[in-house]
Amino acid sequence: MEHKLGKIAVLGMGKMGGILVRAFQKQGLFASSDIAATVQHEEKAAALSLELGIPVGTDNRAAVRKADIIILGLKPSAVGGVLDEIRGELNPKQLIISIAASVPTEYVEKRLAAAIPVVRTMPNTPAIVGCGMTAICKGKFVHEKHLEAASRLFASVGRTVVVDEKHMDAITGLSASGPAYIYIILEALAEGGVKVGLPRDLATLVAAQTTLGAAKVALETGHHPALLKDEVTTPAGCTIDGIMELEEGRLRVTLIKAVVKAAQRARELLFKDSAVGA
Ligand SMILES: NC(=O)c1ccc[n+]([C@@H]2O[C@H](COP(=O)([O-])OP(=O)(O)OC[C@H]3O[C@@H](n4cnc5c(N)ncnc54)[C@H](OP(=O)(O)O)[C@@H]3O)[C@@H](O)[C@H]2O)c1
Repeated sequence: MEHKLGKIAVLGMGKMGGILVRAFQKQGLFASSDIAATVQHEEKAAALSLELGIPVGTDNRAAVRKADIIILGLKPSAVGGVLDEIRGELNPKQLIISIAASVPTEYVEKRLAAAIPVVRTMPNTPAIVGCGMTAICKGKFVHEKHLEAASRLFASVGRTVVVDEKHMDAITGLSASGPAYIYIILEALAEGGVKVGLPRDLATLVAAQTTLGAAKVALETGHHPALLKDEVTTPAGCTIDGIMELEEGRLRVTLIKAVVKAAQRARELLFKDSAVGA
């Protein structure tokens, strides 16, 4: 039998925190009376509270007091300060789940007075349509039940995978930043359609559905992408001509380097920067 998730507090209900809260409400994971959230600005808090029908404030200490699960939806640079603020209110029966890029579980654990379980996650924005990809890893004081709770929460916005923490920055460079790369590819494919005479909305529709379809085939068959590509590539057909252009334009190496650079940046965010996210 699944455990009850209890009450949840989302500290830093911005873009990603907001996506999560809306999904929790929609899927009935929590009653509205069991959700509380905070943001930095009073006017934002009032607007969100009105929209979502949950208490949203700016007092992090008050928000965590009755919570069983606390989500840190803050920018990496804000995490330390908020942990210092709430430290005195926390106990080891609570579970902290961070979605912040770059922030190791050890950083959170060391900042807290007690042995509080900390789960680190990396979701992505397609969560907004229930098609997200969330990697989940555990800190020192985490048990199976905590991972199960985190997996249930993020399953409400898409697919989840439990990974070793050493992979989290790489995951950030691939799946958290990845939607931006795919949007650029999509836009470029649609431009190609426009160049050969398609109306833009038609070109965008077929490019998006083609991207979705190809991803679905890869996921559902489990076949290697190279094999799937070969199936489309008829000898002396059109696709091989298109592929030659992609190779000449160094698409593969460009995408590889994009992931490498973003993953490197993910390693630096917490300590070298202050105003950025995934
Ligand atoms: N966006 C993505 O694609 C994505 C993907 C995966 C992970 N993430 C991670 O998610 C985290 C949030 O990113 P985001 O894109 O959702 O950023 P965001 O929209 O800027 O959200 C940050 C929120 O934190 C609030 N905040 C700032 N200081 C606070 C404080 N002291 N107490 C309480 N709330 C505070 C802000 O309040 P105000 O609104 O009042 O300023 C804002 O609502 C980041 O760590 C990022 O690495 C983001």
